Amino acid sequence: MVAEAIHAEQVRKTYRTRGQKPVEALSGVSLTVERGQRVSLLGRNGAGKTTFLRIASTLLMPTSGAIRVFDRDVVSDPEGVRPLIAVVPQEGKPFFHLTPREQIYTYLRSRGFVRETAKSRTEEALGLMGLEEVADRLNVTLSGGQKQRAMVATVIATQAPLLFLDEPTIGLDPFARRGVWESLRRLTRLGSTILLTTHYLDEADVLSHHLYVIDRGQVVGKGTSEELKRSTGGTLRVSFPGPFADRPGLKAELEGFGRLMDDGVALHVITGPEKVEELLQIALRRKVPATVGPVTLEEAFLRLVGRSIDEEENGHG
Ligand SMILES: Nc1ncnc2c1ncn2[C@@H]1O[C@H](COP(=O)(O)OP(=O)(O)OP(=O)(O)O)[C@@H](O)[C@H]1O
Ligand SMILES: [Mg+2]
Repeated sequence: MVAEAIHAEQVRKTYRTRGQKPVEALSGVSLTVERGQRVSLLGRNGAGKTTFLRIASTLLMPTSGAIRVFDRDVVSDPEGVRPLIAVVPQEGKPFFHLTPREQIYTYLRSRGFVRETAKSRTEEALGLMGLEEVADRLNVTLSGGQKQRAMVATVIATQAPLLFLDEPTIGLDPFARRGVWESLRRLTRLGSTILLTTHYLDEADVLSHHLYVIDRGQVVGKGTSEELKRSTGGTLRVSFPGPFADRPGLKAELEGFGRLMDDGVALHVITGPEKVEELLQIALRRKVPATVGPVTLEEAFLRLVGRSIDEEENGHG
């Protein structure tokens, strides 16, 4: 078999709704997902992530371009692709009139697993997602996070060769999120490939072998988490929290120490270890707090897709 689980070339998608202006959701996305990897798509709301996942998982036709999944064309051979994939859709809900145990079991049976395998996989997935206590309650009675866990459990139980997970950890508590991470790691150890989206950059950081940042339907950044972080131009972040209006001249004084980022919560200087001491001296002299930490994926993301309010008002937002 080929080494690539997904190979996409110049994928475009324009949504056309009668009486509405067409929306170009993807403007030529090319990407590859190597077999056995966990790959994340990052991007602002409306960037095109779900559109890409839906096309790659045979649920939506591209306007043009080509996508192959395990070397099968998703457009001309969707029936060949479907048995190889499983999907957690964005905002998917489990069947209300089933229990989590019934839902997972029924889904596995519908995918052709024999009773015994379906049964053991069901119990395993319930355990992995911490659903034992609610396994026999109707899905309709579950909390929001429990419903989401039931969705993820259903799909991970398939151990399909390629899993698509669109914001799998949305609404999950920090323990349940870690449960999902562990399950996804386990799946790739067993040989599956995973393409997911998330808005939690700490999650993307710990989970992804490779990341693609999508903005306005185009790939604007790609690489490992470390590569993306390095693209900020520094390795450390010195942050001056608080309102800057009260601190005349602070911004000007920090210019020259590295890239400045003002996220409204703190003024961050992306810099290297050699500048830290001097920056902390500035904080001491001004009697303002400052913290030092490593550059995170968040700085890389903000740099890649950040735009000013002016730009958004000019109609690109
Ligand atoms: N069925 C549709 N008809 C028309 N436009 C659509 C449709 N679905 C999505 N869009 C538009 O396509 C663009 C991409 O949407 P998409 O759902 O792929 O974004 P996303 O990156 O998944 O965003 P989010 O992070 O909010 O989930 C958006 O501008 C969206 O409004
Ligand atoms: Mg989406």
